[in-house]
Amino acid sequence: MSYIEVKDLTFSYNEKTNVLEAVNINIEKGEWIAVLGHNGSGKSTLAKTLVGLLEPKEGEIFIDGQILSEESAYEIRKKIGIVFQNPDNQFVGVTVRDDIAFGMENLCIPREEMLSKIDFYAKKVNMLDFLDKEPANLSGGQKQRVAIAGILAMQSDIIIFDEATSMLDPFSREELIKYIKTLHKDGLTIIMITHDINEALLADKILVMNKGKVYAFEETETIMKKKEIFTDSHLELPVSLDIANSLELSDKHKEIREKLWEYALIK
Ligand SMILES: Nc1ncnc2c1ncn2[C@@H]1O[C@H](COP(=O)(O)OP(=O)(O)O)[C@@H](O)[C@H]1O
Ligand SMILES: [Mg+2]
Repeated sequence: MSYIEVKDLTFSYNEKTNVLEAVNINIEKGEWIAVLGHNGSGKSTLAKTLVGLLEPKEGEIFIDGQILSEESAYEIRKKIGIVFQNPDNQFVGVTVRDDIAFGMENLCIPREEMLSKIDFYAKKVNMLDFLDKEPANLSGGQKQRVAIAGILAMQSDIIIFDEATSMLDPFSREELIKYIKTLHKDGLTIIMITHDINEALLADKILVMNKGKVYAFEETETIMKKKEIFTDSHLELPVSLDIANSLELSDKHKEIREKLWEYALIK
């Protein structure tokens, strides 16, 4: 059995239109999955069903062999963390420190350990100087960084990033990606919903959602070779691959094409 299994998942907010339809996905432990798809294709809804915040209309979700249900949701949430698209939705504390601590408090982590983890992860996201500040006064990017620190501190086996880097400045984004790469090497399972195609290229596999359905779910390199997936789903290819794909298939261009591919897939 795969680490995460989604079987025939269908979801609807209003009983009429299905926002997710017959979704089937298997994710192995330690895999890095990028999720691409046009706005409204169901990416965030899928993320919320995976952590048990929304209940499937039909179908089942298994995490580490355990079926996700009302009874198991509490246990399963210890394994899977999520950083939401809009950081305002996850702020509850008086200070940044409280907010980073929130998830850990639910895990009943001893206070001393918690305090040192808060410092460690606040430093990872460059927010150490803000620990005593009020979260409400932070910028969008700073809020995202605090939310990320809180989730990282929980040290879950799986983390879902739902456009979690969208408001970050280029420096913070690069730093975070670097750190996520090290976590991936250490075996973290990552589901990264993103609009940034270059971020998606770092993943082992890419899941393309289109109108609530799985449009494609394959190895990153395989997906990138299928130009029609991108045009059909209104997604942009990385510039270098766009060029590579448009070069004639003559020998003269073979070497350039290979170089462009190599360049695009550097991890
Ligand atoms: N709370 C909600 N109530 C009703 N409809 C929703 C709600 N959240 C999202 N939707 C609808 O579900 C569809 C999928 O949304 P979403 O999962 O947020 O897509 P994505 O994250 O890919 O942009 C959209 O049509 C959206 O309008
Ligand atoms: Mg979304």
